[in-house]
Amino acid sequence: MSPLLEVDGLVKRYPLRRSLLGRTKESFTAVDEVGFRLERGETLALVGESGAGKSTTGRLVLRLIEPDAGNIRFDGTDLRTLPAAEMRRMRLRMQMVFQDPYSSLDPHLPVGDSVGEPLLIHFGTGRKERERRSAEMLDKVGISTSALQRYPTELSGGQLQRVAIARALTTEPAMIVADEPVAALDVSVRAQVLNLMRDLQEELGLSYLFITHDLALVQVIADRVAVMQQGRIVEEGTVADVFAGPREDYTKTLLAAIPDPVPRSMRPGGARMRIRSD
Ligand SMILES: Nc1ncnc2c1ncn2[C@@H]1O[C@H](COP(=O)(O)OP(=O)(O)O)[C@@H](O)[C@H]1O
Ligand SMILES: [Mg+2]
Repeated sequence: MSPLLEVDGLVKRYPLRRSLLGRTKESFTAVDEVGFRLERGETLALVGESGAGKSTTGRLVLRLIEPDAGNIRFDGTDLRTLPAAEMRRMRLRMQMVFQDPYSSLDPHLPVGDSVGEPLLIHFGTGRKERERRSAEMLDKVGISTSALQRYPTELSGGQLQRVAIARALTTEPAMIVADEPVAALDVSVRAQVLNLMRDLQEELGLSYLFITHDLALVQVIADRVAVMQQGRIVEEGTVADVFAGPREDYTKTLLAAIPDPVPRSMRPGGARMRIRSD
């Protein structure tokens, strides 16, 4: 079977200065000829320092921003040439989870409504069915249904990120682009959210493009890793290979910066915490 996602030659430039007529005079290449594949059911970590172009890459993949060059194939469909209406439909199958769960949840809506909202927007699904589905999704992410009526400010950061994941899952995506999904969480709840993501992946066959500046997380969550530096992918391989024998000096530097040791609870096969809503 073909990969779920194939990206090649992806370029994104941002204007630095404009001429008086508004033409771009100089530009800065945030994403520079980036290419990678994401197989079905696997996690590819996109790592690199702040400013490397990771978030821009994630947004390009979903066509939340338009690339200046390159190709994106998702499940056999060329996204670059896909008309807007079809792209919107396609996006149901490719969701994004952000660092800050507040950004994807409406502060004025009970979280249960937020979780069901994509069904309303895309399918006009009725209230009863939306509520049933919200409860089902929240249960999947370990949030008790009593939280359905609560507002975002009433939940902890970890709970909110679970809710954001539940919302992303309502449209039954094949892929989730997770941009620093645990970076804003207390260290104590990071492992729980990562474990949840792994469990959901196993259960639903999800593919993750997992964006992080933190190489310590890569060992926990990813199958393969692509290292980004100044807009380019400088090294790519299985997590085992890259960690055992990094080729690039840049990767070695990133690896050397990992605080040691990675807590047992966060290592693959380590003790896994099971939590219900906390
Ligand atoms: N909308 C934008 N306009 C101009 N420059 C941007 C914009 N978005 C990102 N950049 C720049 O592109 C580079 C890559 O940003 P980003 O993709 O957010 O990096 P990362 O997620 O790896 O930290 C940075 O130098 C950033 O300042
Ligand atoms: Mg970023």
